[in-house]
Amino acid sequence: MTTDLTSFDLTGRLAVVTGAARGLGMAFATGLAAAGADVVAVDRPGVDLSPVAAAITDQGRACHRYAFDLADTEAIAGWVDDLRRAHGPVHVLVNNAGVARLEHFNEITVAGWRELMRVNVDAVFFLAQRIAEHMIADGVAGRIVNVSSKNGLVAEAGLAHYNASKGAVELLTRSLAAELGPHGITANTIAPGMIATGIDGEFPFDREAFEAAWERRIPLRGGYGTPADCVGALLLLASDAGRYITGTHLVVDGGVLADQMPRLRFMPPYRGTV
Ligand SMILES: NC(=O)c1ccc[n+]([C@@H]2O[C@H](COP(=O)([O-])OP(=O)(O)OC[C@H]3O[C@@H](n4cnc5c(N)ncnc54)[C@H](O)[C@@H]3O)[C@@H](O)[C@H]2O)c1
Repeated sequence: MTTDLTSFDLTGRLAVVTGAARGLGMAFATGLAAAGADVVAVDRPGVDLSPVAAAITDQGRACHRYAFDLADTEAIAGWVDDLRRAHGPVHVLVNNAGVARLEHFNEITVAGWRELMRVNVDAVFFLAQRIAEHMIADGVAGRIVNVSSKNGLVAEAGLAHYNASKGAVELLTRSLAAELGPHGITANTIAPGMIATGIDGEFPFDREAFEAAWERRIPLRGGYGTPADCVGALLLLASDAGRYITGTHLVVDGGVLADQMPRLRFMPPYRGTV
């Protein structure tokens, strides 16, 4: 097999993207369609999937919309079976849907913890479990891409449950990679940094001051990332181009995790020598 740009081509593949209605999920679904894939776009009941569906069909690809609450773990296997009956084999799974809440460690309730884990961890695992079983049965060298976070690698105050959920996604993904490798199926994570979406829309904090602090903390020029900044990583991991990449994470964070502390801001200004 040669390596050329056609190895990124997803024509004829079917991709499932959860949380596809907005934010990163919408960019992922649209990006996969741009690479040639047809898309199953999933989001919570009551959430409008028509903008993402329009973006996909505008590119000449099919979009199959599903209103499904991923917190309903028991229903996942049956829903995946229905999908396969309706649309045939799934080649790419993007477990993107996730929820976050900002709470002190002592404010987290048992019910709140479980609710977050159901979407961020249980759904990710059980969706991958059933889809991987179908991939094996169908002889598909599939791709599983789970969206974790920089918070799955380094903690952040006020997000104990979220951090724990994303850490779990990291290790469950490596576990899947180990078990699915013999079937030619890869499993990886994308670990985004600070991406401008609505995920923290209800966080009770001084947004302006917080975002300004982050802007100064991100090494790469431009500060916060956009959902579109994460699509290249997905196309690598979802396509033949990423065929030998499994069990790892791709951090897309503008260099945040690379820099312990923004020391540069306390140094004299850069003076080039050329
Ligand atoms: N935005 C960031 O800075 C950032 C950073 C790191 C990781 N992430 C991760 O990226 C993923 C996407 O985040 P985003 O920022 O685009 O968030 P978002 O809130 O904009 O979008 C999340 C989508 O998931 C859907 N969803 C939530 N619960 C669901 C459920 N029970 N069933 C079905 N769909 C459900 C929502 O309706 C929404 O459309 C999440 O897993 C998040 O943890 C985001």
